[in-house]
Amino acid sequence: MANQKGGVGKTTTAVNLAACVAAVGRRVLLFDLDPQANATSGLGLEKVEGASAYRPLLGEGSLVDKIQNTVFERLEIIPSEVDLCGLDIELARAENHLHQVRRVLQPVVASGRYDLVMVDCPPSLGVLTLNALAAADGVVVPLQCEYYALEGISMLNRIMSQLHDNSVNAALELVGVVMTMFDGRTNLSQQVVGEVREHFGERVFETVIPRSTRLAEAPSFGKPIIHYDKHSSGAAAYELLAQELLARLDKKAGAEVVAEQTSVHVP
Ligand SMILES: Nc1ncnc2c1ncn2[C@@H]1O[C@H](COP(=O)(O)OP(=O)(O)OP(=O)(O)O)[C@@H](O)[C@H]1O
Ligand SMILES: [Mg+2]
Repeated sequence: MANQKGGVGKTTTAVNLAACVAAVGRRVLLFDLDPQANATSGLGLEKVEGASAYRPLLGEGSLVDKIQNTVFERLEIIPSEVDLCGLDIELARAENHLHQVRRVLQPVVASGRYDLVMVDCPPSLGVLTLNALAAADGVVVPLQCEYYALEGISMLNRIMSQLHDNSVNAALELVGVVMTMFDGRTNLSQQVVGEVREHFGERVFETVIPRSTRLAEAPSFGKPIIHYDKHSSGAAAYELLAQELLARLDKKAGAEVVAEQTSVHVP
């Protein structure tokens, strides 16, 4: 989940999508890479000193040891805490500084323990977000239904092309754009969704996340919406979004398998 704009729904989307994907039977790891640690508290974990990916990212110890269970089945987390805020500067000095998230995640991915690893990024295009983009197969961009929504995504798009063109991560794709905090009573919300769809076409998920008090209060109970208020409009929306996401990811994985199989026949 990335968007350098603050407060657009990255964490809400990360926590709730992760929970919905786990609820339909996939094994999910949520990697909280934001020093604010909102995803960590949103899943009911305390911020504990030394529990984050800080040391592994600096080459000390293994990321696997930082993985924690949540009370939700098939959903595990690498928590964050405030020490991650110094990491941008320290990583910037390190060699290969864009590839540290990829490096620490490699054994986790290779273990086959998870069907999906999601990273919740901080609201900047700093070293932490760039590291996440350098490690990811795909980006999901939450956009708030507000007037300046498109401004954020043009910068992110530019960064993604640069990562592509400089071979930092040639595999990186825009998996989808999620419109968040939609308010059906205002023309503005409708207009913004229309404009974003014009720009990004099918990349925009059909499912739009409504503005809902239940979604905003769920994190204070340490619960994703499907466990806090299963019958709310927010829960229904994130359940649908999870289906859409999985359909896109499964299609992408299928296409990659086919490409690998056909490449065997290419001399
Ligand atoms: N659909 C929604 N309806 C109502 N409130 C929402 C919704 N989505 C998010 N919020 C609230 O808006 C605020 C910002 O959301 P969130 O923390 O998910 O954004 P973010 O992009 O992760 O922020 P940051 O950039 O600070 O990490 C939070 O208080 C959250 O509870
Ligand atoms: Mg956040």
